[in-house]
Amino acid sequence: MKPKLLVTRHIYPEAIAILREHADIDYNDSSAGLGADGLAAAAAGAQAIVSQLTDRMDARLMDAAPELKVIANVAVGYDNVDVPAATERGIVVTNTPGVLTDTTADFAFTLLMAAARRVTEAERFLRSGEWHQWEIDMMCGHDIHHHTLGILGLGRIGRAVARRARGFEMRVLYNDQNRASEADERALGLEFTDVQSLLRDADFVSLHVPLTDATRHYIGADELALMKPGAILVNTSRGPVVDEEALADALERGAIAGAGLDVFENEPTVSPRLLALDNVVLAPHIASASIKTRTRMCTMAAENAVAVLAGSRPDNPVNPEVFDS
Ligand code: DGY
Repeated sequence: MKPKLLVTRHIYPEAIAILREHADIDYNDSSAGLGADGLAAAAAGAQAIVSQLTDRMDARLMDAAPELKVIANVAVGYDNVDVPAATERGIVVTNTPGVLTDTTADFAFTLLMAAARRVTEAERFLRSGEWHQWEIDMMCGHDIHHHTLGILGLGRIGRAVARRARGFEMRVLYNDQNRASEADERALGLEFTDVQSLLRDADFVSLHVPLTDATRHYIGADELALMKPGAILVNTSRGPVVDEEALADALERGAIAGAGLDVFENEPTVSPRLLALDNVVLAPHIASASIKTRTRMCTMAAENAVAVLAGSRPDNPVNPEVFDS
């Protein structure tokens, strides 16, 4: 008999095809989640769950699924999973790193450029019929080339953003808990600096830290106050990394020039204050959303789940200590 596996929401069919070969699937083929109770009921008896960042995978859910061996999250971030609770119960948690790096970095740059050059604001202006003539100072924004980018969090995606910045001949500052090797700094043209100096010196600040207790409201009123009045903040990491109300304050007062946001504190709700502002480019958490990347994220999660069900070590465990205990 095949093991029982729960797929919490709609995923790409390529991943379902992989899963069907190895498991008896309970597939919620819908973008609507099951809710905490529905999820717990559906998880009973499951040995594997393929989850998404919108599913809360907490201790209660795990206790409702005593046979659970693996939670394969279709995302590189896994702040929706209580990893310590999973580890305690011997449940492997996996994520989908690497495959979305370039797609997400492309989008961080898209937001940076759109905010700097007022692309969405200009489009709204044109569509509204307000454009009557070319004007010398119409919709002027900020240059990107030869300006300074500050990267907070130099993981895979932070590095990929740094590579893109080189093409624009930008000076690139970074901060990370772990300083990169001298060779990497040289190859990527990076300058290591403390967070405060980075915020003071950068024309663009791009966030690439994971959401943890330490990074919740990592950028708040004090940090925003350090930024230049002409600076632009880009967030493609997780919404709660930025104090959204403090950001709205800074943007309303013109304390910083703009922001490009793909993620929000209470998704899918977006602060009405942000919605009312022209100097912020808003996207609905789509930084990794190319067809190819999202398909690969799904198949990668499926492969991770199948590996654990087969008794092997998956490629992307986030709590590998489960195997060592
Ligand atoms: C992730 O993978 O963590 C993103 O937020 C969605 O691609």
